[in-house]
Amino acid sequence: MKSFNIAAYISGSGSNLKSVIQNSFKGVIASKVKLVIADKHASGLDYPASLGIETAVISRAELTRSEFLKMQSELLKKHKIDLIILAGFLKKLPDEIVSEYKGRIINIHPALLPKFGGKGMHGMNVHKAVIEAKEEFSGPTVHFVDEIYDSGEILLQRKIRITAGETPESLQKKVLEIEHTIYTEAIKLLEEKES
Ligand code: GRF
Repeated sequence: MKSFNIAAYISGSGSNLKSVIQNSFKGVIASKVKLVIADKHASGLDYPASLGIETAVISRAELTRSEFLKMQSELLKKHKIDLIILAGFLKKLPDEIVSEYKGRIINIHPALLPKFGGKGMHGMNVHKAVIEAKEEFSGPTVHFVDEIYDSGEILLQRKIRITAGETPESLQKKVLEIEHTIYTEAIKLLEEKES
């Protein structure tokens, strides 16, 4: 089975990252998370750091553009990264990284793309928009990342029916629970594809 060296990019609590790490430990996937990069001091860095996984905060605001790129590239090379997973990463990846790792970057989004994606569509905004649009279904999407937000080829999607009285909060909870299995499934699909 193909085993990827994974780098995860996060901005928040990192519950998706945690589920991938735990599934990797359980042997559900052969791949291993080797590196976690955040754009700020995100609480989701604590779990991987406690396991000895290298973590780094690389903030564009504190660096020149070339320093910013160099720091990421060097870490990605150091750990021989061949799969990048965005797990609640709120910034855009630099175009240079997107083109260098084309086909090897995936993202998880909490709605059924191509609807409810794009700039500003993150967190509770997504679930509010889904409820306001009176959608019958929602659910997470795992997709490849290209230069445009939420527009790359879809790898995996799971649909759930929106029940009467559903709120953005209750929907977020349900979708997040599915995210915690579907992200690992997507990685497994990629492993199988390359085996
Ligand atoms: C998830 O809902 C994911 O779909 C989106 O950002 C959220 C991250 O949650 N891209 P967490 O930090 O993994 O808990």
